[in-house]
Amino acid sequence: MVMMRNRNLKLLTFLILLASLTFLLNYTHTVVTATWFPKHMVSELSESFKRLMNYPQRPCTCSRCIGEPGVSPWFDERFNQTMQPLLTAQNALFEEDTYSWWLKLQREKQPQNLNDTIQELFQVVPGSVDPMLRRGVAGCRRCAVVGNSGNLRESQYGPHIDSHDFVLRMNRAPTTGFEADVGSRTTHHLVYPESFRELGENVSMVLVPFKTLDLQWVVSATTKGTISHTYVPVPSRIKVKRNQILVYHPAFIKYVFDSWLQGHGRYPSTGILSVIFSLHICDEVDLYGFGADSKGNWHHYWENNPSAGAFRKTGVHDGDFESNVTATLASINKIRIFKGR
Ligand SMILES: *[C@@H]1O[C@H](CO)[C@@H](O)[C@H](O)[C@H]1NC(C)=O
Ligand SMILES: *[C@@H]1O[C@H](CO)[C@@H](O)[C@H](O)[C@H]1NC(C)=O
Ligand SMILES: *[C@@H]1O[C@H](CO)[C@@H](O)[C@H](O)[C@H]1NC(C)=O
Ligand SMILES: *[C@@H]1O[C@H](CO)[C@@H](O)[C@H](O)[C@H]1NC(C)=O
Repeated sequence: MVMMRNRNLKLLTFLILLASLTFLLNYTHTVVTATWFPKHMVSELSESFKRLMNYPQRPCTCSRCIGEPGVSPWFDERFNQTMQPLLTAQNALFEEDTYSWWLKLQREKQPQNLNDTIQELFQVVPGSVDPMLRRGVAGCRRCAVVGNSGNLRESQYGPHIDSHDFVLRMNRAPTTGFEADVGSRTTHHLVYPESFRELGENVSMVLVPFKTLDLQWVVSATTKGTISHTYVPVPSRIKVKRNQILVYHPAFIKYVFDSWLQGHGRYPSTGILSVIFSLHICDEVDLYGFGADSKGNWHHYWENNPSAGAFRKTGVHDGDFESNVTATLASINKIRIFKGR
C-alpha cells in the first residue's frame, strides 16, 4: 500500500513537471505568435495549471479507453489530446491563421471585432468549462452521439441510447414522439443559430460558431433579442439558461478540418464535429443515426420523404470523407457504430 502510494506520488510529481514544461513551451510559443485575449493575462499561470490538472489526462477505468495511444498509428497521428474542445475566457486565443480561416467559413463581410465579441459573450455565459465535462476522479464515461439519419427509424435503440452517461444530439433533432428509436435523454445539444430548436430542461447547449455573428447571437438571444436574421431568419430569443450554454472552440473546428478531414470539403459538418468532440470528452463512444439507411437513402428520421437527401450534398461538407473517418474509427475499435435499418 505504502509502495503504491509512493509510486503514485512519483507519477503525479512527474506529471506535474511534464505539465509545467508543456505549459512553459506553449506559453513562449503563444506570446510570439498568437492573438491574445488580454483580460486574463495575470491569472493565466494559475488558470493554466488548473486547466492542466483538470483536462487532458482524465483517469479512465473502461476496459478500453479512446485516448489510449499505441493502438493505431492512424489514430495517433490525428488525435491531439491537448486541443481544447470548448472556448473559455482563458483559452480564447487565436493563432492568426486560425482566425483568418474561421472568418472565411461563411464569408462574413464585416465581422465585429472578435476580442470585443468574446468579452461580451463571457459577460453573459460562463467563461469556464462545464464542471460536468471536467473529471477529477477515475471512471468510465460512456457517450452516445446521436445523428439525425433516417436509419434510426424502427431501430428500437431508445433505451440503449438513454443508458449512456452523456447523450449528444445535434441541430433540429426532436425526441418527442420518437423515444423508442432515438431515446429521450439529452445531455448536450450541438447547434448553430440557423439550426436552433428549443432544448429540454437541463440540456447543455453547445453553440458551434461558424462566424462572429453566431457569438453575437448568443448574447442577443439571451438578452435583448436584437438579432433575428443571419443569412436566414433565426430565433431572436431562446429559453436556454445562460449557465447552460457552452461554446465549441473555433480552433477545435480547424483541428477537425486539418487533422481529421485533411482539408476535405470546405469545413466540417456538425456531425463530424460532434464525433471528434466526443473523442475528447468521453472514454467510450457509440454512434447512432449516422449515414444512409439500408436502402441508401439520406434523410432525417423525423421526415417522411426518404429521398430528400437533405444533408448529404450540401456542397460545403465532404460527406463521403467524413463517413470514411467514422468508419475507420470503428474499424480500429475506437468507437462503435450502430447502423440501424
Ligand atoms: C485582440 O487583441 C490583441 C491584443 O490586444 C490584438 O493583438 C489582436 O489584434 C486583437 N484581435 C482582434 C481580432 O481584434
Ligand atoms: C497539438 O495541439 C497543440 C495545441 O494546439 C499544439 O501546440 C501542438 O503542436 C499539437 N501537436 C501536434 C502533434 O500536432
Ligand atoms: C433538471 O435538474 C433538476 C436538478 O437536478 C431536477 O430536479 C429536474 O428534475 C431536472 N429536470 C428534468 C426535466 O430532467
Ligand atoms: C477509407 O478510404 C480509404 C482510401 O480511399 C480506403 O482505403 C479505406 O478502405 C476506407 N476505409 C473505410 C473503413 O471505409
